[in-house]
Amino acid sequence: MPAKDLAEATKRMFLPFMQMKDFAADPLILAEGDGIYVTDVNGNRFIDGVSGIFACNVGYRNERVIEAMKTQLDKLHFHLLMHSTNEPAIELAALLDEITPPQFTTSHLVSGGSEATETAMKIARQYHRQTGSPGRYKIISRYWSYHGGTLGSLAASGGAVRKAVYEPFPTGYVHIPPPFCYRCPFKLEYGDCGINCAEMLDKVIQGEGADTVAAFIAEPIIVAGDGFVVPPPEYFKIVREICDRHGVLMIADEVITGFGRTGKMFASDVFDVWPDILAIGKGMSGGYFPVAAAVITDQIARAFWGDSDEMIQFHAGHTYGGAPLAGAAAVATIRELLDRDLLGNAARVGGRMKTKLAALAEKHDVIGQITGEGLLLGIEYVQDRATHQPFPDEVAFAKRVDAGCRKRGLITRPSLHVQILGPPLILTDQQADEMVATIDAAIAEAVAGLNRSAADRASAAASVGGRDD
Ligand SMILES: Cc1ncc(COP(=O)(O)O)c(C=O)c1O
Repeated sequence: MPAKDLAEATKRMFLPFMQMKDFAADPLILAEGDGIYVTDVNGNRFIDGVSGIFACNVGYRNERVIEAMKTQLDKLHFHLLMHSTNEPAIELAALLDEITPPQFTTSHLVSGGSEATETAMKIARQYHRQTGSPGRYKIISRYWSYHGGTLGSLAASGGAVRKAVYEPFPTGYVHIPPPFCYRCPFKLEYGDCGINCAEMLDKVIQGEGADTVAAFIAEPIIVAGDGFVVPPPEYFKIVREICDRHGVLMIADEVITGFGRTGKMFASDVFDVWPDILAIGKGMSGGYFPVAAAVITDQIARAFWGDSDEMIQFHAGHTYGGAPLAGAAAVATIRELLDRDLLGNAARVGGRMKTKLAALAEKHDVIGQITGEGLLLGIEYVQDRATHQPFPDEVAFAKRVDAGCRKRGLITRPSLHVQILGPPLILTDQQADEMVATIDAAIAEAVAGLNRSAADRASAAASVGGRDD
């Protein structure tokens, strides 16, 4: 189809979280990818600064993954895990066992992050039913979090805007404030706060009644919700202790942070705190095939192992979970991450990029802070750096910078006040520097745009004030 017709035909689609009237006016329609680059149907090339959406960790057109999938396609493309299993799925489960700490032994394979988090929550509830605590059903999570778009995973998510139009949600979901030190929800100062955001979990579990709480679910770093939140280093250690004390299972939603994104295979390793259930997806197959999983400890797995008449098997599943092609793509992607030390590369190049972005703050006082780990970085924009006051929502400064980046050939992910970067983990130093230079120019342009609007408003006000009629 010619590019013009393709653009017109985008009106036949609903894109997620996208106002189609705006999008259809100037749609980004991609045709090809190679390495860290994607090219649109008009031949414009972009650095993909968000890896699709934190999925394409080994980049585009990766030969090893493509070969593995082609080979598998010629053998067996699909069969439902309910009736059988298959070699790639078994290999994947074994590999997940290998790359996680020894207590994690067993995986339930699904096809997307929402399925993974929902599966994790179902496993938690069923585990308690089968281990003598049938009254434990509540899920505690944080405001600002994002655990997926299906009703159960969205109920656990914390963003009001994404949730409001789909309310009401099922009962049994309770939220606590996020650990956002930059603008502390409790108006406390880090170092003198007693890590109140973590202690809050203890108070809420007690308030709800510990014997009603099944699990606490949290992303190690909040990315896809309403902000970009890296918790203080003690946070998850305190959370883990509280969960253990109350018999509450801990679920780490590593759908974005997993598979090398933070410079470690899993961000749980960054904070040195491991959950009882890992929900993983996105980068697991490098975006080459939909695959995700809930990975559980041996202790949890045992609660599901018994005779048929006990009916203690996991009572849920999804058609495409663990399909042979999914297994082939994921195994090849994970091997690629390991063999090429792309985790080490993410840590090193991400560190370089973080330092260079921090240096931009000397030039642009709209940069409040640079946060993140490895190749998962956030640029928090502020109106006032001293008070951390954000721009008014309608200014959408991060979106303005993102638009300037797009014009210059870089795709990033803006939320309201934060510009998020998550390029493929194959990024080189030179490409990282190119990204920083582009962001530098886009910030300068966005600031100039704001100053121009302010000057226009002032001169309009002066001309109205100067009229004598
Ligand atoms: C942290 C987190 N969890 C879960 C999900 C849901 O994943 P999916 O969109 O693959 O269903 C997302 C998606 O962005 C996510 O960022």
